[in-house]
Amino acid sequence: MSIFGNIAQRLAGKNIFITGASTGIGYLTAKYFAEAGAGNIKLILTARRKEKLDALKEELVKTYPNIKVLTASLDVSKIATIRPFVKELPKEFSEIDVLVNNAGKALGLDPIGTIDTKDVEEMFSTNVLGMIELTQTVVELMKGRNKGDIIQLGSVAGRDPYPGGGIYCATKAALRSFTHVLRKELINTKIRVIEIEPGNVATDEFSLVRFKGDASRAANVYKDTEPLMGEDIAELIVFTATRKENTVIAETLVFGTNQASAFHLYRGPLDKK
Ligand SMILES: NC(=O)c1ccc[n+]([C@@H]2O[C@H](COP(=O)([O-])OP(=O)(O)OC[C@H]3O[C@@H](n4cnc5c(N)ncnc54)[C@H](OP(=O)(O)O)[C@@H]3O)[C@@H](O)[C@H]2O)c1
Repeated sequence: MSIFGNIAQRLAGKNIFITGASTGIGYLTAKYFAEAGAGNIKLILTARRKEKLDALKEELVKTYPNIKVLTASLDVSKIATIRPFVKELPKEFSEIDVLVNNAGKALGLDPIGTIDTKDVEEMFSTNVLGMIELTQTVVELMKGRNKGDIIQLGSVAGRDPYPGGGIYCATKAALRSFTHVLRKELINTKIRVIEIEPGNVATDEFSLVRFKGDASRAANVYKDTEPLMGEDIAELIVFTATRKENTVIAETLVFGTNQASAFHLYRGPLDKK
């Protein structure tokens, strides 16, 4: 058998729960899992915009007749709704093999002192509180079966904070710390805890959301750089989840080539002393 020939076999029958699957990295991750598993998987796809999830479901079902897809509107910032959602999953989707905590956002690039309190709350409730509540709920189910993968979308921002990123960087540092603790607590189990930490990824909406619909500011983030694409991160996520059961890819810090312009954006020109 070829080294990579058994990836579809490793994924066969797995139930994969992705938050923020309506666009960007989450959307592409759903597609890549479906392709890597040749459709012999189950997907729980959540985000706030259910119509986008349903369009993705339609496409997946057409391409892979065996695939089972459940779509649901789940706003992870509404913490109280998360536990009931997981508890009430239909039996067929109730055993979760892979959780991808992907929903997340950056809002603004404002210096500390001028950050809108609403933005602070929205970033923390989405990137941190919602992620924690969902993880706490799912990990107990995984512990019961002594198996499962928890894949966390961190960021370079969680390791290397930059001016203007006071809150976003803090949320990703919080995710990173929480993820470390979780991995250590589960070190003697078969549950794998994986963190993916990308640099700039040129997804359709991430920067648009950050700059609240200002398309030219959003485009400027990627100007003169070769950013990562959502596909690159989706590929990594699927790669980490399809290693042999004995292998945990604990962390991956990943960035695109030619990032100097992005560096300028957050830190000022490189040649400025
Ligand atoms: N793009 C980057 O440069 C980059 C770099 C490093 C890390 N990351 C991280 O990677 C993850 C995905 O980024 P992306 O670029 O794919 O972002 P994106 O294109 O903006 O997509 C974000 C996803 O999260 C969902 N979402 C937003 N608020 C939500 C909420 N309250 N409840 C549930 N879902 C919510 C959105 O769907 P709805 O609007 O339909 O809810 C969307 O599906 C994030 O955690 C981000 O921090 C991104």
